[in-house]
Amino acid sequence: MNKIKETLIHKKISLKPIWFMRQAGRYLPEFRAIRKNNKDFIKLCLNSKISSEITMQPLKRFKLDAAIIFSDILIIPFALGQKVSFNKSGPVLGNTNNILKNNLDGEKFKFKLEPVYENIRITKPKLDKKISLIGFVGAPWTLATYMLKLKKIDNNLDIDKFKNLDEIEELIKKLTLAIKVHIKNQFNSGIDVLQIFDSWSGIIPNSYLKKFCFEPNKELVKYCKDLGLPVICFTKGIGKNLKHFNDFVQPSGISIDQKVDPIWARDNLKDTCIQGGLDPELLLGDEKKLIKEVDKFLDIFDKEPYIFNLGHGILPGTNPNIISKIVDRINKNG
Ligand code: CP3
Repeated sequence: MNKIKETLIHKKISLKPIWFMRQAGRYLPEFRAIRKNNKDFIKLCLNSKISSEITMQPLKRFKLDAAIIFSDILIIPFALGQKVSFNKSGPVLGNTNNILKNNLDGEKFKFKLEPVYENIRITKPKLDKKISLIGFVGAPWTLATYMLKLKKIDNNLDIDKFKNLDEIEELIKKLTLAIKVHIKNQFNSGIDVLQIFDSWSGIIPNSYLKKFCFEPNKELVKYCKDLGLPVICFTKGIGKNLKHFNDFVQPSGISIDQKVDPIWARDNLKDTCIQGGLDPELLLGDEKKLIKEVDKFLDIFDKEPYIFNLGHGILPGTNPNIISKIVDRINKNG
């Protein structure tokens, strides 16, 4: 029995599976060791053998219920022909002229992402049947945020750039097509579950939330459901609009961020499976306080289908031993 699928599809309440966003990443010394010798991050994502090894790194240390494919949401703009690189302060992207001008060449796009699919194919047999292999995509708005540089250094929306609504709309349409191709190929390669990261939905003005967040997510969720692929939406920073989002989009699961009150989520997000919510900052502080919070989440979601996770990714300064402590606590209760 696959614990995450049982929880997502059959809404089983007794399992309480656990995984972490960014579980393969910079807080792990074994990841940093590989990264030191692989300075080009996109190239690393496109090296199937090493990417599969990184995907498995957290599972070697912790009793997790999922492996998430090591890649990045920005692999899509890269495969569409945009320049993408990473420096110390984050991603650096080139212009979108060619993407906006040309139609999607599905075959070329798929060919460029072939190493990601190969990673899925070589990772899948390494996993016990109980463990899910999670694939992911960035939602159109969040990809557009990076591609058109729609947020300022302070992470607020750049109002001047947001005035270019036709361009944003056009890009979101194109991205939705490309994302579907990427979902389908991940599905065909063997993923069990898909997570859609809309990490920057929180900066969309309320009056555009439906157009730029709810509608594209709904289209992608429907696409996954038609494939028979369970889908989790991580629509970060939209607060109580999550209720409307959930009713409209109807994903299999909703990952909540740390600003969402878990009791409110339990009482308002119906017919879905809730995931996550624990503040990643708590993993940097007092251990007793952390375990108390973990217990609080278990208590709140005791009679609900619930997947344990954080409200956002594991922070780079997190001590891996703390992850073990959380996993042990959940598994003792699960
Ligand atoms: O372990 C996993 O979760 C799987 C791999 C994964 C990465 N990025 C690897 C990565 C996943 C699922 C992502 C998603 C992602 N990437 C998101 C959505 C989730 C979120 O955090 O909001 C976003 C917005 C990105 C874009 C991105 N990639 C940024 C802003 C950065 C730089 C700063 C940062 O957050 O790490 C990256 C680089 C990146 N992606 C690293 C890793 C392990 C760090 C690379 C390094 O510098 O060594």
